[in-house]
Amino acid sequence: MMQGLFLTFEGGEGVGKSTQAKMLASALQIQGRKVVLTREPGGTEGAEAIRNLLLDTRGQGWNARAEALLFAAARSDHVERLIRPALARGCVVICDRYIDSTRAYQGGGGGLNDAELLTLHAIGTDGLLPDRTVLIEAAPELTATRLAARDGEATDRIGGRDAAYHARVAAAFAGLADAEPGRFLRIDGQGTPDEIHARILAALAPDLSRIT
Ligand code: TYD
Repeated sequence: MMQGLFLTFEGGEGVGKSTQAKMLASALQIQGRKVVLTREPGGTEGAEAIRNLLLDTRGQGWNARAEALLFAAARSDHVERLIRPALARGCVVICDRYIDSTRAYQGGGGGLNDAELLTLHAIGTDGLLPDRTVLIEAAPELTATRLAARDGEATDRIGGRDAAYHARVAAAFAGLADAEPGRFLRIDGQGTPDEIHARILAALAPDLSRIT
């Protein structure tokens, strides 16, 4: 039986997910917990190779269906080789993006059907869902400033899509959180990294107190 705790971080571009995933991992390690911090697309050698195929700005890029298949293939390898074994060892697994990114980007942004994306997820991973999903939400004006500071003109194939695409992604994330209030923790992404970190720790406190 699975022990451990599977946490995912989700949100649009520049909401501060990766910073917060790292801060949470360090805080839990300091508490003496076994933590595995990973990301998608990627996390294993095979999935990182698929990541390069997906995000490279050279060439023609992929249609939404091909993208969904590639993300699902990368996730399948990641779950089998890294996430399930770490959960079985009793680790807290913190994953920066997971299936809800596919549902928001390829579903909300790209127009694919949510039930079909979940079927693909069932094929790829036997339908492994996180115990909790931290959704960080921030207004596009705030994230645009952060992204300009972080990336300048450099952006990847998906991050570089237009504002309408990213607005659909944000709306899709909100819809997913509304539909599954038990799994999603919605976190206000405004404020300093420390303030956001404190919100996340408070929201996760009941889950963290349940595991050793
Ligand atoms: P990354 O550099 O990790 O972006 P970020 O810092 O915003 O997390 O690039 C991942 C990109 O891939 C990002 O634009 C979101 C997109 N993505 C999808 O479209 N579908 C998915 O299933 C995942 C995991 C990511």
